[in-house]
This record gives sequence, C-alpha cells and structure tokens, in this order.
Amino acid sequence: MSDSRPEGAVESLLHEDRTFAPSAEFAAQANAQPSIYAEANADPVAWWTEQANTLTWDTPFTKSLTWDLPFATWFEDGTLNASVNCLDRHVDAGRGDKVAFHWIGEPEDDTRTITYSDLLAMVSQAANALEALGVEAGDRIAIYMPMIPEAVAAMLACARVGAPHSVIFGGFSADAIADRVNDADCSIVITADGGYRRGAAAGLKQQVDDALKSCPQVRNVLVVRRTGQEVNWQEGRDLWWHEYVETQPANHAAKSFPAEHPLYIMYTSGTTASPKGIFHSTGGYLTHVSTTHRYIFDVKPETDICWTAADIGWVTGHSYIVYGPLTNGVTQIMYEGTPDAGGRDRWWRIIEEYKATILYTAPTTIRTFMKWGDEHPASHDLSSLRLLGSVGEPINPEAWIWYRSTIGGDRCPIVDTWWQTETGGIMMTPLPGITAPKPGAAMTPFPGISIDVVDNEGISVAKGEGGFLVVNAPWPGMLRGIWGDPERYHETYWSRFEGRYFAGDGAKRDDDGDIWVLGRVDDVMNVSGHRLSTAEVEHAIVGHDDVAEAAVVGASDDTTGQAVVAFVTLKSGKEVDANSEAEAAVIASIRNHVAVSISPIAKPRQIILTPDLPKTRSGKIMRRLLRDVAEHRALGDVTTLTDPTVVAMIDALMAAHASDDD
Ligand code: WT7
Repeated sequence: MSDSRPEGAVESLLHEDRTFAPSAEFAAQANAQPSIYAEANADPVAWWTEQANTLTWDTPFTKSLTWDLPFATWFEDGTLNASVNCLDRHVDAGRGDKVAFHWIGEPEDDTRTITYSDLLAMVSQAANALEALGVEAGDRIAIYMPMIPEAVAAMLACARVGAPHSVIFGGFSADAIADRVNDADCSIVITADGGYRRGAAAGLKQQVDDALKSCPQVRNVLVVRRTGQEVNWQEGRDLWWHEYVETQPANHAAKSFPAEHPLYIMYTSGTTASPKGIFHSTGGYLTHVSTTHRYIFDVKPETDICWTAADIGWVTGHSYIVYGPLTNGVTQIMYEGTPDAGGRDRWWRIIEEYKATILYTAPTTIRTFMKWGDEHPASHDLSSLRLLGSVGEPINPEAWIWYRSTIGGDRCPIVDTWWQTETGGIMMTPLPGITAPKPGAAMTPFPGISIDVVDNEGISVAKGEGGFLVVNAPWPGMLRGIWGDPERYHETYWSRFEGRYFAGDGAKRDDDGDIWVLGRVDDVMNVSGHRLSTAEVEHAIVGHDDVAEAAVVGASDDTTGQAVVAFVTLKSGKEVDANSEAEAAVIASIRNHVAVSISPIAKPRQIILTPDLPKTRSGKIMRRLLRDVAEHRALGDVTTLTDPTVVAMIDALMAAHASDDD
C-alpha cells in the first residue's frame, strides 16, 4: 500500500481504543436490534428482498438478484416509480399534511414549509412541464441548482417521468458543466438565476449560458427565480419555472418503470482526467437507501426531524436528503447557505429552533466548527438531538470526541458511515443501538453487506493488519455502470480483485476485527469530503498558457482532510524570479484557471514553481516523493529517479514558500 495516508495518521488512529456503547434506553427503542446481523447475513439476498418489499411496487418482482459479473440486476421484473415511493404513497395514506421540508434560506427570515402534498404538487407540475417539453423516459436532464425546494422537485419530476437526472454541483464551472452535459447527452437543463453564497447572489444561469455554447443538443433551460438577479435570456430556449412549470396542472399520473431503469447519473472523479458518470438503478437503489436510512439513522417518521447537511449536488444529498428520507416519509431540514452565513452559530440556531433530532455531516465541517470555538454551540439548546452521523472521509478521534460531547451532549450515538458515490448507500457503519463504536472507525459492514480487507493477492489480512477494502458480493444500491463506458466500469471496479468490488480505499482490521478506513490508495484526493483526481487538476493546470508541466498531490490538512498542492514547471521563456511580483501573479492566475476549468473547490492550496519535476527513468512523475515534500516528511527512496537532486531542490523551494497558504 505505497499510496496510503501518512503512517503517522494511521498509527494515531490505531491507538484509539475507547468505545462508546449506546445507552440502554437508546438500545431498547432502536429500529435495529442485535439479531439483525444474523438475520441478514444468513441469507443476504433473501433479507434484501424483504427490505425491497417495504417499497410500493406496481408490479411485484419475482426475481431478486441476477449476477453476471460485473453486471447485477436486482428485482428486475418488478416495476415501480421512485417519486410515487417518495410522495404519493405518503399522501395516499393520509400523511399529506406532514412537513417534508422545513426549508431555511441563507438570508435571515427567508423560510418555507413544504408538506408532502405541497411537494407532490410541485413535482407533478414539473413532470407535466417536462412532458410538455417532449421529455420521454430515458432522456437525460441536467440539474444545476442551489439548495432550494425546487431542486428536490426537479429531481423527483425527472424520476416521475423516467428521465435520469444528472445533478451538477452548483460550485462547478461552465467548462465542467459542459463536459457533464455532453457526456450524458442531456437535452434539458434545470437551473436558477443564482444562489446565495455568504450574503451575495452568485450567478448560476450565467454559468449554464456559457456551458451551453458547446452543448447544441440542449433544447430548453428551465430557470427558477431565486435571487432576482439579472440574467441573459435566449428566447425559445429559456423558460421561467414560475411561468412554465407553476402554470401546469398539479396532478400527474405517474408511469411505472422497471426496477433496473436508470434513476440518475452522478459524476465523480477517478484516477484519470475525465470524470466518470456513475449511474444508479431505481428498485435496488431505493431499497438500499431506504433500508440504511431507517436502521442507521434509527428514524421514527412520526417524531424525528432529520438534517442531512449536505448539498444535493453530491451523492449524500441524493441518498440521504432525497431518496432515503422521502421513501421513509420523514420531516427534514434543508438549509440553503454556508455554515457561517448570519453568524457562526447559524446551524445551532437552526437546530434549536426546529428541534432537529438527527444531524448528518462531514468531518471537515466538524473540524471547522471546532476551530470557531465552543461558545457558538454552547449558546443554543441542542438537547433535541438524539443521533449524529459523519460521512465523507475518515474522522479523526479528536473531532469525533468533540462532536459527541459538544454537539451531542455525550448522549447521542455517532454513526461514522463509509460509502461512495458508486455504492449508492452506506456500506459500513456502527448501528446506533447495537455497536459500541471506537472514535474514528467505521467498524462493521451493514447487515447484508459483505466487506473484506485484503492484501495484494486478495487474501484477507489478519487482525491488526492493513490492506485494500473490497466488497465481496453485489448489493442492491451498487452502481450499474459508468455511463457509456462498460469497459472502464469492469476495469476500474471489478478487475483488480477478480469478482470483487475494489473501492480504492485502504483499510485496517484492528485486533477486535473492527474496520478503520484509512483513505484512498489511488491518485484520488479527498478535499473537504469532495473527491478530486490529481490527474483532473493537473489537466486543468497544464491548460494554462504559461505552464509546461504539473504534478498534483493531496497533502494532509488539519481542516479539509487533504489539500491540493501543485508542483508546476513553467514554459521556457515564461519563467519568473522567486518571490517576485511576477511569480505571485502567475500563481494567482493558475489558481484562477483551475477554478474556472473545474471549480473553486479544486484550487490548489499551494503552488510551487519548480524548474523540474522528479521522474523515474521511465518518465513517471514520483508523486509519492512530492507528497513527502508537501507534508514536510523525511524523503523516501530516491534511487530510481533520473535526477535525485530535483527533489532536494523542490524541498528547498517549498521551505522558502512555507507561508504561501491562504
Ligand atoms: C470516498 C468516497 C459517501 C458520500 C460522500 C463521499 C471517503 C467516505 C468515509 C468514512 C472514511 C470515507 C472514502 C471513499 N469516505 N466516507 N466514513 N470514513 N472515508 O462520496 O465523493 O464518492 O467519496 O470518500 O475515501 O472512497 P465520494
């Protein structure tokens, strides 16, 4: 495992041996009782079949799993509609007045209450609008929106008419939008004029306009008016949501689709420069997210107020804001803004006011709150909380303990949930009424999921040993492929260990057999829980006019988990003097170029200009060495380098720029 996270981090994790058992009171009322493991693991397919039957099917399925490596189908002869499962069945059962979302806008006092009936009406209007625009089952639709209820309605409207949605995170640039819209050949884009970001209205429509210059197949753009900012308008193509959607009939007869009908595509970074369109099915996916949401978050639809503080632009929002919670009919909080909009206590104010019971967020956010100080949560009553969750990267024990005591009042179980865009739903986690978790460990596979930690040859490692995380058998929420690239799908996930799913993460099995996820073992970085590929960022940097070559590594960072550090060689004739204004200018210009080519989240924390990059004799850039340099570690073996002095030189350059971070 040459590319795992720094040994130091691994060591400190493994010295953590405190455990935190749930209270007897929590354990007694929990949805998941200890027998769940034996029941599920005795016959996982039968158990998942039972879970699938908690959904509403129009045609019951007779087959459960068909596994033709690497292609799985689940419940394939059944038919259902995802939006009916999220909405109609609750309304039909008399729960239409139940609140689906307490929505809180970024500006103070900008709130909306959306019941299940309200949401069904919004979705029906949007579904009618899509059909009026000629959308047919199977057509792909891109969604690029802020965190407003219409974003959820847009997703469910797509699901209702059988058009797979591709939600593109609102922070992505026009270039990134165009790549994604073209890869999935989307014919409609749903967006908003803009969204609020720390008090300012940031343009979204304007990014879409730029992107669509290279997407001629897009027929229409539906635009929600959110900020009221000025937008350019292309007559015939652009349609206002309030004019075109909100005038449609508020009922819509949903068709039923086969369980394997694709529900959505979500792009994620792999080890190459082009993002992969991960696509998910309908029946298996809904089964997975509904089941995991019910047992892991222990939801009681009558009383819980769930807050998954994630963006719908990422898979966490898809699975645990939209499809999991809505199939289970719970009430949720949806907040539009950043954690410090309106004060660093904004979240805690929201929790106090809406009496949130379940909070699910990322370690990077938890660490940011830690830095901001205890006075912010301390000034609010957080006693409504009864369960906390973490997702996106390994959580360091210190943050785990802070989360438990400062936010959870030492009373709330914490579920550290490991999963991926590809897995669709949670795969490994404590169960809140059963497990006594160790801070920092994802602990055990979810019932009905089979996971192993293996060595290079695919052999299970012993207790106390590290290796690669694999999934042994297909599961209902698993990706059905990479959009348009079945070869890459097989190659990326199912060939490293034949017949088993290779997650790309390193893990350790501790002396008790519990599993600790250690981070990526490939050239993928995890910055604030966002997945970025080193190749993708390098590709963006070398797209800058002055750049000859670039190498990007993820270096550990106290707040964001990892940070992007780039080593860049300028073209001859474009070189600049060290510490000159010209140097500062070119660095700023490269960072900006990355923001424009991908997204501001991909901007390097640090750029080191260097006349050379360390390469092996075969010409491969030695990222491992650069990572050592970026993390100020003693340098490893340099004997395979063409020019071993290059690394020492870069190290010196790095030291000279130690204060570059911003
Ligand atoms: C990668 C997946 C899952 C939704 C958000 C990220 C890392 C995720 C954990 C965790 C340790 C974690 C892994 C994984 N990761 N959750 N609880 N403990 N690592 O989805 O962008 O597809 O990224 O995030 O490295 O492979 P994603």
